[in-house]
Amino acid sequence: MNENETGTHPIPVPDMKHAHVPGMAAYDQLVAEAEADHSGYWSRLAREFLTWKTPFTKGLDDSRAPFFEWFEDGTLNVSYNCLDRQVERGLGDKTAIIFEADDGQVTRVSYRDLLARTCRMANALKARGVKKGDRVVIYLSMSIEGVVAMQACARIGATHSVVFGGFSAQSLRDRIQDVGAVMVITADEQLRGGRQLPLKAIVDDAIALGGCEAVTDVIVYRRTGGKIAWDPSRDRWLHEEMQNQAESCEPEWVGAEHPLFVLYTSGSTGKPKGVQHSSGGYLLHAALTMKWTFDLKDDDVFWCTADIGWVTGHTYIAYGPLALGATEVVFEGVPTYPDAGRFWKMIQDHKVSVFYTAPTAIRSLIKAAEADEAVHPKRYDLSSLRILGSVGEPINPAAWKWFHQNIGGGRCPIVDTFWQTETGGHMITPLPGATPLVPGSCTLPFPGIAAAIVDETGTDVPNGQGGILVVKKPWPSMIRTIWGDPERFKASYYPPELKGYYLAGDGAIRDAQTGYFTITGRIDDVLNVSGHRMGTMEIESALVSCTDLVAEAAVVGRPDETTGEAICAFVVLKGPRPSGEEAKKIANELRNWVAREIGPIAKPKDICFGDNLPKTRSGKIMRRLLRSVAKGETITQDTSTLENPAILEQLAQRN
Ligand code: PRX
Repeated sequence: MNENETGTHPIPVPDMKHAHVPGMAAYDQLVAEAEADHSGYWSRLAREFLTWKTPFTKGLDDSRAPFFEWFEDGTLNVSYNCLDRQVERGLGDKTAIIFEADDGQVTRVSYRDLLARTCRMANALKARGVKKGDRVVIYLSMSIEGVVAMQACARIGATHSVVFGGFSAQSLRDRIQDVGAVMVITADEQLRGGRQLPLKAIVDDAIALGGCEAVTDVIVYRRTGGKIAWDPSRDRWLHEEMQNQAESCEPEWVGAEHPLFVLYTSGSTGKPKGVQHSSGGYLLHAALTMKWTFDLKDDDVFWCTADIGWVTGHTYIAYGPLALGATEVVFEGVPTYPDAGRFWKMIQDHKVSVFYTAPTAIRSLIKAAEADEAVHPKRYDLSSLRILGSVGEPINPAAWKWFHQNIGGGRCPIVDTFWQTETGGHMITPLPGATPLVPGSCTLPFPGIAAAIVDETGTDVPNGQGGILVVKKPWPSMIRTIWGDPERFKASYYPPELKGYYLAGDGAIRDAQTGYFTITGRIDDVLNVSGHRMGTMEIESALVSCTDLVAEAAVVGRPDETTGEAICAFVVLKGPRPSGEEAKKIANELRNWVAREIGPIAKPKDICFGDNLPKTRSGKIMRRLLRSVAKGETITQDTSTLENPAILEQLAQRN
């Protein structure tokens, strides 16, 4: 077998009879329970996993489909479920967070401390007038304060919207404006890889762009002490705001459907979508998947390397681990600083037992380990590891096998978890004590998730034949709507031709023998670069907004060994097509422009200049052909409908 092919011989399950889901019989039983009574199954789990202030009387309400509701008449508080509940059951002294700073400094926070800090911040927010239903934007790097800020919002019923610290002022402004935030919580600067990067200055720029008039307060966590501008009418230091606040704060009991957060993600148009999540259903799946997918036990040390700016950091840093009373590592820095052994050293130092990361990180660390023996994982003691996880993009079998052997010592199951911002938690994933593994396959649906593969008419396709990934039944942690745009929600996820199934936006195929799922990639104009989701249209809009230079632009993805996909932009300039040094210079200018407009993560890797773009006679850009050009393929497709076939050759030269 080619080592990058998906295997067909499942790797047997290690002996894990004490697993929470111990074996395929237990898995099948859960699946059967959900099939027999979908709403009843989820309701049983919602009673077992969450503490309700007012018990709910019904599970699924589909009377307003596709705006589904779960446990609607129940009330609860997410922060109570994550913090108070742990203290009440005697875990007050247990370490909730082991925070490792960029420079290696370690801070431990117990559940009791985390609760006290959350209450003080919650009281500080209330003192500034933030109340239930208000939106708060959080623009912070990885920090204890980030988690506390999210928990504090949850405690008072404010809806948070975390914006990844790598987004530009423009992107931040768009999100503040769209969500109608009354407050922004940020830091003076962030520290990553030994470098101080601005945060507060970007908030200042975002607000200066206009449209953020609802923001009355900017709360600033002092991280580096770097110099920042200060507007006394609006800016406040977090430590001063928290100074005299009480360490207790009565939770705001909210309905299960109350929006816990809105998280922006890319879609197939230029405007990011504000994915709205619930409180009850969301937290249920966060807790349940923590327990079953990671087989989490009381003495585990869990580490998810994601950033709280992405959904993985929401579900598997800010909420899931805490809802189970786990000990988790939170890391401020980057995997390559001070060297590419950082992850392995941290696993060794903190005796991490469950490690959850992204294929891009694994692939770049493989390269680093191969180039430099000193940072090879064999130099570290990784024997504490029990379970490994992968998320965000397909993991190619070669990287899977390296991860399995070199990090997991051949003994740790890898859970390749497929899910999305919209799904709130894992959808298709192995369960470590049950599912035989196949490198490159996310295996089988989580019990209760009705994942299936259909054609364009919503009809099931047989195993072995690719199609469109859908979820046939609603589930508790699903997206509730797109903030402020219910019509777009319906059109994006419940197109009429799909019979009321949730459209994931990915293609997939099930193995003819095992029925295992393999995700074949997005079927829309969404790219996945280093596990970061990006819309081609967003990048195109950013490029054409450079009106001095750009006449037209088209963006496509191409496979990349390390980042999974790379962004490739085809650009027609207003002036003549540049070549040589001049082309390089303009390409760099455009990259920086995109970084300013969206953020550095959206910088195109390749920029090719042409006199035109390949278009049909009716003027439609043929992206299919551009994708082939981007990959460096010889064009074998029919080009007879092209207005200007010669342009393909020009673009293929890639200046
Ligand atoms: O294309 C799929 C890919 O990432 C997309 C979701 O991106 P986002 O909403 O940013 O959430 C990422 C973290 C959950 C999906 O539509 N994707 C995610 N996980 C996997 C994956 N592709 C293959 N295998 C996975 N395990």
